[in-house]
Amino acid sequence: MNACIRAIVRASLYHNLKPFGIYDGFNGLIKNEIKEMKYKDVSNILQYGGTILGTARCKEFHELDQRKIAYENLKANNIDALIAIGGDGTFKAISIFSEEFNFPVIGIPGTIDNDINGTDYTIGFDTALNTIINAIDNIRDTAASHHRIFLVEVMGNASGTLALYSAAASGAREVFMPEKKEDLQEIKEKVGQAVAANRSSIIIVSEGDEVGGAKELYDYLCEEGMGDKIRVSVLGHIQRGGRPTFRDRLNATLFGERAVVSLMQGKTNMMVGIEKGELVLNHLSLSQEKKSPQNMDYLKLIRKLSVY
Ligand code: F6P
Repeated sequence: MNACIRAIVRASLYHNLKPFGIYDGFNGLIKNEIKEMKYKDVSNILQYGGTILGTARCKEFHELDQRKIAYENLKANNIDALIAIGGDGTFKAISIFSEEFNFPVIGIPGTIDNDINGTDYTIGFDTALNTIINAIDNIRDTAASHHRIFLVEVMGNASGTLALYSAAASGAREVFMPEKKEDLQEIKEKVGQAVAANRSSIIIVSEGDEVGGAKELYDYLCEEGMGDKIRVSVLGHIQRGGRPTFRDRLNATLFGERAVVSLMQGKTNMMVGIEKGELVLNHLSLSQEKKSPQNMDYLKLIRKLSVY
């Protein structure tokens, strides 16, 4: 997100606009934690994860009277357009805000889950994937040496995209994800085969899967008498930070610049995105529709490449 903030500030200054940063998301709008951003305020930030502006989940913004305060703060600061980086919740909030106060808004998709309809890509997804892949590389040292099966739990909320892509790229034997029905009998057989063959295996489990996560799957396999050879690794918040990858930095930069230019062209209620490799602008309402999972055919690939 820092690369995106940098691009927004620098593109605004280039076009003789006056950019402001809002601290801690909608909280900062309500509390008037708003500061003019100068060129140097965004120097040397794009190599860091997270956001220099801070972020927060803000229940208050659900209330109309609080949104009115936010609007008044924007007006008091002579701000006449808003760019918000976030997920579908953020986009819904700015869309309502824009309609209520006739205020120009543009959304930029940012979430490791890559679950926003209207874009093939969200800021953070690629960095999280690379973190997962690196973690699995490390886990494989133990898995291979000890001939163990590892259940690796990844984030993603209700989306299995992180799980599916990381499984395809890390040579996993199986993936558990919310978008497919699980067959516990099948996994019992697969793990049983690996144990019998004294082989190591990686199984990726999405945190939102219907089995409940890696620990729950482990408990089931323990009941089936396989616990000895299985270990669980829940990757957790290491996936949500760290040095952004090239792809994340570049896309975040493209998104930020496009958001500024779009507002200058009078666009509002739109989100920036990437579809089929092209930078696009879509209506914010598209983000409220359910995203169909992309590349589900990776499932077949994962299985095809891991048959003993
Ligand atoms: O929605 C993004 C996400 O990273 C999910 O993948 C994860 O479940 C959640 O956020 C974690 O949120 P928190 O840091 O608030 O626990």
